[in-house]
Amino acid sequence: MRPHVSDHGPPVGLAAIVAATSVLGGDGSESSRVAGVWWLMFGLSAAVYAVVAGFILVAVVRGRHSGPQPPNARQDERFIWIGGLLMPVVVLGVLAVVTVTTTRDLRPEDPNAVRIEVVGKRWWWDVRYPEDGVASANEVHVPVGRPVDLVLTSTDVIHSFWVPELAGKVDMVPGQVNHLRFTATRAGVYRGTCAEFCDLGHANMAFMVVAEPAEDFARWLARGASGSGTMPQAELAASGEVVFLRESCGGCHTVKGTTARGRRGPDLSDFGSRRTIAAATVPNTSENLMEWLRDPTSVKPGALMPPSRQIPDEELRALVAYLEGLR
Ligand code: CUA
Repeated sequence: MRPHVSDHGPPVGLAAIVAATSVLGGDGSESSRVAGVWWLMFGLSAAVYAVVAGFILVAVVRGRHSGPQPPNARQDERFIWIGGLLMPVVVLGVLAVVTVTTTRDLRPEDPNAVRIEVVGKRWWWDVRYPEDGVASANEVHVPVGRPVDLVLTSTDVIHSFWVPELAGKVDMVPGQVNHLRFTATRAGVYRGTCAEFCDLGHANMAFMVVAEPAEDFARWLARGASGSGTMPQAELAASGEVVFLRESCGGCHTVKGTTARGRRGPDLSDFGSRRTIAAATVPNTSENLMEWLRDPTSVKPGALMPPSRQIPDEELRALVAYLEGLR
């Protein structure tokens, strides 16, 4: 297996699609509160460190220059009570109260929240908007300024849904439903990743969260719900659809408006509008898609999609044109 990027030099970098991720990003209601607790912890730890280091410095300097001090039991005792007991109790007490209240207030239920179902699979993310009949994969669109309720589960092994800039981690456990609720406060494309080792494809199980203004989000949903635009316009794409159906791609994939209704692999109805392929492993370019179709495991080791080396290149090109036209 060769690493994909060595073939034709690095493809369009994923860095061009998303900014660097940071746990202190704070672009979501949850992450900004968690970041606040982190800064408080950091500040208090730094203060304690500075004070202790200061005492060490004083001891070192005084020990060298002023000889042994006469013992003062009262002073020593007071120092131990205050520095060794009172101060730690105060510092840890403040942190405990802030941590507990912050944790309690996270993920509030909201009847107005957009419900989004995300199922972790080996090794990609099934994304559904049940109220609007919209399905996608590896890309979660959310409106800015409106709470979302992510309903998380898994159908195989334990995965973990994590978009550091927006919220904390939540495990996706087979047979159990967990919730992640937050409000994105700034528009942007955020990288998320699986945060629980789930075998071979774990390192390449990422996704995008696209936080967009309410109107853009509504437009995206409406387009997904209508399923129109999946009719291939160009001749090349039309022959690609023939290849798609002939090769039984529909056994695993769904494309709205066709006979392809498989649920094993990602729903491809809006594939052409997605930014990445193979769960955010590489950007969604024609060249990467060709390579992916020909030999998925060369792009993403462990990928469960079978290779299509037997399909002639010109038919693969038609297939690429078809897939890119799905929007
Ligand atoms: Cu899914 Cu790690």
